[in-house]
Amino acid sequence: MTTETKDVAGDRVVIFDTTLRDGEQCPGATMTFDEKLDVADLLDAMGVDIIEAGFPIASEGDFEAVTAIAKRVKRATVAGLARAINADIDRAGEAVRHAQRGRIHTFVSTSPIHLAHQMRKSEAEVLEIITATVTRARNLVEDVEWSAMDATRTGIDYLCQCVDAAIKAGATTINLPDTVGYATPEEYAAMFRAVRERVPDSDKAIFSTHCHNDLGLAVANSLAALDAGARQIECTINGIGERAGNAALEEIVMAIRTRSDALPYRTGIETTMLARASKLVSAVTNFPVQYNKAIVGRNAFAHESGIHQDGMLKHQQTYEIMTPESVGVAKTSLVMGKHSGRNAFRTKLKELGYEFGENAFEDAFNRFKALADRKKHVYDEDIEALVDQSIAHAHDRMKVVALQVVAGTSGPQSATLTLDIDGNQQTVHANGNGPVDATFAAIHKLVPHTARLELYQVHAVTEGTDAQAEVSVRLSEDGRVVTGRGADTDTLVASAQAYVAALAKLMLKRQKTAKAEQAV
Ligand code: KIV
Ligand code: ZN
Repeated sequence: MTTETKDVAGDRVVIFDTTLRDGEQCPGATMTFDEKLDVADLLDAMGVDIIEAGFPIASEGDFEAVTAIAKRVKRATVAGLARAINADIDRAGEAVRHAQRGRIHTFVSTSPIHLAHQMRKSEAEVLEIITATVTRARNLVEDVEWSAMDATRTGIDYLCQCVDAAIKAGATTINLPDTVGYATPEEYAAMFRAVRERVPDSDKAIFSTHCHNDLGLAVANSLAALDAGARQIECTINGIGERAGNAALEEIVMAIRTRSDALPYRTGIETTMLARASKLVSAVTNFPVQYNKAIVGRNAFAHESGIHQDGMLKHQQTYEIMTPESVGVAKTSLVMGKHSGRNAFRTKLKELGYEFGENAFEDAFNRFKALADRKKHVYDEDIEALVDQSIAHAHDRMKVVALQVVAGTSGPQSATLTLDIDGNQQTVHANGNGPVDATFAAIHKLVPHTARLELYQVHAVTEGTDAQAEVSVRLSEDGRVVTGRGADTDTLVASAQAYVAALAKLMLKRQKTAKAEQAV
């Protein structure tokens, strides 16, 4: 019996984070190898129980990342995903065998629509596949999770037969995903209740939720299943994931903590690290967090209206059900200016949840000094934007070195740009229809591509005309979607950084595809 199996009778909910697998799978959220390690380290430190580190058969890069994460993670179980195919299972087993606790997570579709159109297999054939693949996985590792893909659109009788086969073959966790985000909370809970009641050996496995957010119900569905006996929740930081995303880890954890009266459970998550995790994932995926996102959105603890502000001043709990500090959000404060020294900056970074080695610290400090020279008041948000950009771009092959732009009423607007590409600096000049167009045309001259600009978005990090601009860019090329972000007091420099960051990700994706094609 595993530790988790014992816990099922109790109130402990196992948090299974799939940011690096289901999260990374969504269009535009590609992470580099080093970024994945940074995210895994943070998840481990935060107390996530299981880190799904990737899909080892998908590419050499995925295999290497899962292997490296398995080797370095100290506390969490490391899981690798596998389809119900022998080669997938062996590859996942190979990647997670280095972990102190390794898990193979294998899945197969069970719904009639998937069986008929995707799998082209009969129910009987799929049952045989479940027995064979779970048995194979159990011969490689002790800890095997089996998922019924599209469980919520599967007939309950057949679903029970599948779960029964998986448990008999040795699955220790049974995951019943709402793959298409279709269920309502009552339906989702009823499915768990029925399966747990009807499958004879259901008490031998932990039951797990995995909800997608197509109808905005992913968190509600996950929590509803707890009452029906589920004790593992699969989720992602910021709710990133396929289509509308997965259940958001920070929302699940804070709902359980804040409403312990209605949800009598507990997780092992250190909640003061949630804001940091959100920022890191947003920085490395280049996915902005929506302003009004629960728990980690920048407005989540902001009180704008007079009535609310008045109430807050009289008593914090009038309009706040949890404190910003409990999720790691420090109160906005004027931090430092150009006279602030290394010690003050180091202390501030620590306060904001960043830990750096000496080289990374020096780099961040120099960037802070450069910003403080240009901007009178430097706020916490400025420092976060600046440091997150350094983290996000630390491993990029291309960097903006210099940009001069001619703008104004008497055109043509033009840009002279110097890029560092793999250590070589190159400069070009281009005209455009406006300064942003000229800047992007210059980048295009240096990095020819056929990608289409799908989104160009600018927002100010703080208030004032000297505020840093944070720019998001989304590009698409041959079905690949990538995003990039940049931050600077100069909107055009931030735009160039964002465009170049997106192109760097695109190159990475092209390489991944090329390697995968070579491997076939
Ligand atoms: O949504 C889903 O069904 C999945 C499975 C692979 C668990 O992500
Ligand atoms: Zn999923």
